[in-house]
Amino acid sequence: MSRKKRATDGRSLGGVTREGDLTLIRDDFLVTSAIPERSVDLIVTSPPYNVSIEYGAVRDDISYSEYLEFTRRWLGRAWALSRDDGRLCLNIPLDKNLGGQQPVYADILGLAREAGWRYHSTIIWNEQNISRRTAWGSWRSARAPYVIAPVEVILVMFRERWRKTHPGVSDISRDEFIAWTNGVWTFGGEKRKKTRHPAPFPVELPRRCIRLFSYVEDTVLDPFLGSGTTLLACAELGRKGIGVEIDPAYCAVAEERIREALGDLPLQEESPVRKKSPGRTR
Ligand SMILES: C[S@@+](CC[C@H](N)C(=O)[O-])C[C@H]1O[C@@H](n2cnc3c(N)ncnc32)[C@H](O)[C@@H]1O
Repeated sequence: MSRKKRATDGRSLGGVTREGDLTLIRDDFLVTSAIPERSVDLIVTSPPYNVSIEYGAVRDDISYSEYLEFTRRWLGRAWALSRDDGRLCLNIPLDKNLGGQQPVYADILGLAREAGWRYHSTIIWNEQNISRRTAWGSWRSARAPYVIAPVEVILVMFRERWRKTHPGVSDISRDEFIAWTNGVWTFGGEKRKKTRHPAPFPVELPRRCIRLFSYVEDTVLDPFLGSGTTLLACAELGRKGIGVEIDPAYCAVAEERIREALGDLPLQEESPVRKKSPGRTR
């Protein structure tokens, strides 16, 4: 059945908008109760990096220790919502340079393990974005040079067991499987203007994660949905998609992008149920 046909039973529940197999939750992921525990097959997400991005509803310039506490909390929530064979694909930077060097990847991996997640592998996303380069530290001098890797990573983890326990259908081609199981992925980033969001990832990122790590009709969650990219990939690939986004303006962007992709469907409008994220809302 085509995605267009499947996505026709739009209805609203509180802060939740549903279109067929796609669910958009306008809420704080740390507190939302709209997702049943142990119900998610795959999480694909890019959380806020705490690099002073001007998001609408949350601050992105909190102290590093506050950021790690926020990370610890959301990783714990994500773990509780995952099935035993549930997986996590986490797009994060290697390092943080703004406001002092921090080994973000290493710190988040440690917190994820503490939250119960088990390590599987790390994919290097070679974004090829050297324009982000703004500082040399000390030009051609050993006094204090900066080393910056123009890549991000996708940390791949699982809850209890890596081998999937339920039968299902995979939709990945031979060539994609060979190419994507090589853990260096090379494709460009997404344009902010196109998505009307300050930090989107390209649909190619959730598309690859979803096809490689989930079966058709599995449930995929993005707890930091932003402009809705992961739900777009779910719609394209026939997965049940759940997205959580705290900012009503980005929810509206996500709805619009999904509507554009699926056809002119009657998405229902409603007010957000919460605007504040404790401890980190503007
Ligand atoms: C890096 S962006 C995600 C961008 C997304 N991958 C896309 O392609 O548009 C992180 C998003 O998380 C949202 N966010 C921050 N804290 C949140 C929270 N506690 N609950 C839900 N969403 C949150 C921000 O508003 C922002 O849109």
